[in-house]
Amino acid sequence: MEQQVALVTGASSGIGEQTALELLRHGFVVYGAARRADRMAAIVGAGGHAIAMDVTDDASMRAGVEQILAAHGRIDVLVNNAGYGSYGALEDVPIDEARRQFEVNVFGLARLTQLVLPGMRARRSGTIVNISSIGGRIYEPLGAWYHATKFAVEGLSDSLRVELEPHGIRVVVIQPGAIRTEWSAISRRSAIERSGSTAYAAQARALVRALEAADRSTGATEPHVVAATIAKAAGARRPRTRYATPLSAKVIVGLRRVLPDRAVDRVIRSVFSPTKEELAEAQHAEAPHADDVDRTGV
Ligand SMILES: NC(=O)c1ccc[n+]([C@@H]2O[C@H](COP(=O)([O-])OP(=O)(O)OC[C@H]3O[C@@H](n4cnc5c(N)ncnc54)[C@H](OP(=O)(O)O)[C@@H]3O)[C@@H](O)[C@H]2O)c1
Repeated sequence: MEQQVALVTGASSGIGEQTALELLRHGFVVYGAARRADRMAAIVGAGGHAIAMDVTDDASMRAGVEQILAAHGRIDVLVNNAGYGSYGALEDVPIDEARRQFEVNVFGLARLTQLVLPGMRARRSGTIVNISSIGGRIYEPLGAWYHATKFAVEGLSDSLRVELEPHGIRVVVIQPGAIRTEWSAISRRSAIERSGSTAYAAQARALVRALEAADRSTGATEPHVVAATIAKAAGARRPRTRYATPLSAKVIVGLRRVLPDRAVDRVIRSVFSPTKEELAEAQHAEAPHADDVDRTGV
């Protein structure tokens, strides 16, 4: 049987890197894509290929897909994994940054899917694996834009699944829980940058504490666990529509399905409420808002 060809975005780190390595172990021809092409040496060392690609840059996405098609004539599996967390109170996040969050987490995923679909349709076969999150089902304060993108990936993937079924193409959603990667530090940094000295400063500190605790906890999951699930879904003839991983993620998604909003709010509040120390610290950090300055004539 001909070797299956997979393209994995966000392969320079975390879940994407481990997925590329896992697919190589499963016998796929693997192309890892990311902006930091130099960070994919492990994939190249294991027999894979590295492509420099920015999922906000149409030309780089087209060039990457063309390169693979020229070499192999096909892409059987696309793992849309590239993404980051843009945190901060909705009031504080510039709309340009919100647009960028959507460019990377949603439009990049959609554009790359557009580019691989003609080939998959022609062969009446292929699998699109979209990396969502438990954050595509639940929510955090100061996470409005990140969650908006992941909720969007959930809805987009549902439509796409039924749209592509008649063409023989499978669409799978992966919902990871807290996974130990570069994601947490990037998300924490964005929360502090945007809201660390605004009216939301205490909530920003509480969020950072909660994200840090999830990252440091001995129970935190390593990315190879998610990679194993992705590889299983990519190789399945009839994959499930969604895979929440690890078990704790499954529990959270299950609870969200049965609990009313207010009950979920209470749980979220218990995790993300600022402590007395965080409230005190935030009072010192809080700077006057630009609009307040104008209004008071200071
Ligand atoms: N870690 C978690 O707890 C967790 C939980 C649920 C879902 N997820 C999701 O899992 C996916 C992978 O995240 P991760 O945890 O593995 O984080 P990570 O270690 O930060 O990896 C993110 C990857 O995305 C790539 N990326 C970011 N912006 C990009 C762009 N504009 N163009 C191309 N590639 C870009 C990065 O590569 P370059 O910077 O080199 O381009 C990197 O390889 C994300 O979609 C994330 O939202 C993560």
